[in-house]
Amino acid sequence: MTTTPGGARSPLCAALEGIERRYERDDGTVVALDGIDLAIARGEWVALTGPSGSGKSTLLHVLGLLDTPTAGLYRLDGEDVSTLDDDARARRRNLKIGFVFQAFHLVPHLTVRENAALPLTYLGRDEHDRHRRAAAALERVGLGHRLDHRPGELSGGEQQRAAIARAVIHEPDLLLADEPTGNLDEASTDGVLDLFRSIHRDGTTIALVTHDLRVAAMADRTHEILHGRLA
Ligand SMILES: Nc1ncnc2c1ncn2[C@@H]1O[C@H](COP(=O)(O)OP(=O)(O)O)[C@@H](O)[C@H]1O
Ligand SMILES: [Mg+2]
Repeated sequence: MTTTPGGARSPLCAALEGIERRYERDDGTVVALDGIDLAIARGEWVALTGPSGSGKSTLLHVLGLLDTPTAGLYRLDGEDVSTLDDDARARRRNLKIGFVFQAFHLVPHLTVRENAALPLTYLGRDEHDRHRRAAAALERVGLGHRLDHRPGELSGGEQQRAAIARAVIHEPDLLLADEPTGNLDEASTDGVLDLFRSIHRDGTTIALVTHDLRVAAMADRTHEILHGRLA
């Protein structure tokens, strides 16, 4: 770790060096990521664009500790996380990562409040704390009146805002979003983008995959991915 005993944090939130992700398939080897070097500073907002199949989701999954590279080095908050075992990786993920998916992925049988509180459940926080913080997080995304509803009773835009509340409730170091507006109409997209802007203003580091150039333009920096490489 480059984090010092005094608690000073690495200026880089995430740093990838020579990251490669290969899949062995019956029809041959697919190189989804082919030598990615990418450094994301703390507080930065990076947008990733590129054609379908270019490796965007794979890159986001590696950054989010949902997938392990087959080669290369990944430092998260100064710590080499490329060689952690599954349990250690899951612990870092629960603590440091928030993830927003295109299709929301809320748990259908849980209430909106229970969904938003899930990261706190994984971190072992007590029920009182979970309830209070979930209500505050949902209030912030404009869903304070929907706490006890099920996801199926919400519009797409509301579900994505609930998913964003869940992704940031534990104040992650790195917020990742894979096409977060891809399933939304224009009005819902605006609401979701306002939220990302506000979360970024509060200092959260964001890496977001998007096809939408308007969304990409809000980031500090945009990278295009082509055939598993940064263009
Ligand atoms: N689990 C997997 N097994 C085999 N190949 C995969 C797997 N996931 C992704 N790929 C392949 O890796 C490449 C990159 O995929 P992906 O990261 O999903 O691209 P994007 O998000 O840019 O559309 C594609 O060729 C895809 O078919
Ligand atoms: Mg994808």
